[in-house]
Amino acid sequence: MMDAGAQKRAAAARALEFVQPGMRLGLGTGSTAKHFVELLGERVRAGLKVVGVPTSEATRLDADRCGVPLTNLDDTPELDLTVDGADEIGPELSLIKGGGGALLREKIVAAASSEMVVIADESKWVSALGKFPLPIEVLPFGLGATRRTIEQAMKSLGLSGPLVLRTGKDGHVFVTDGGHWILDAALNRIADPNALAQKLSAIPGIMEHGLFVGLAHTAVLAGPNGIRVIKRS
Ligand code: A5P
Repeated sequence: MMDAGAQKRAAAARALEFVQPGMRLGLGTGSTAKHFVELLGERVRAGLKVVGVPTSEATRLDADRCGVPLTNLDDTPELDLTVDGADEIGPELSLIKGGGGALLREKIVAAASSEMVVIADESKWVSALGKFPLPIEVLPFGLGATRRTIEQAMKSLGLSGPLVLRTGKDGHVFVTDGGHWILDAALNRIADPNALAQKLSAIPGIMEHGLFVGLAHTAVLAGPNGIRVIKRS
């Protein structure tokens, strides 16, 4: 039986089968995506020609260390495939992302990709999104007003729950790669992710939110007894 770490690596290894020579790849962030970057690096060192756009400074360092050639969305605005992890994977492959704080770049990169494959261990698979607190990346300026508007938007959809300003291990406010802060919204159950995504996207002060709706095409889920590949219908 595989433990969670081995499951993440197994999902990452299966996702390598989606990679073709010459592809322009979006490289995700988090512990599962890190496995993918490491395994991709092995292929590159064996001769595979690809380029990658990292979704965080952490992934940039990993990709450099593993020898994966990098580009950016200015030189390469269209990508073939993004492989990334998720905090929750729900119906229609809607996702909650941003537990690692990289949601803004992750969403820009996923949106620039023709295809997104999400890789995870089975524990991420849920019947409804929301147990994992939804990360909302905000501009520090005007936080009080932004917070109030978010609460009103949630209330209009019958949602409520604490909005917690994320702090790092050092106890200080967590700052994203883009210099923003994150509010984590503990909503418990998000019945209509699309409706909430639209409301949040319309709020000034929100740089991005962690609801990824209609972006993932395929999920590769590794469980203790094997791998499931699920396509969005
Ligand atoms: C990073 O901001 C996140 O979106 C990650 O993709 C997500 O938190 C999954 O991370 P793990 O693979 O470490 O669980």
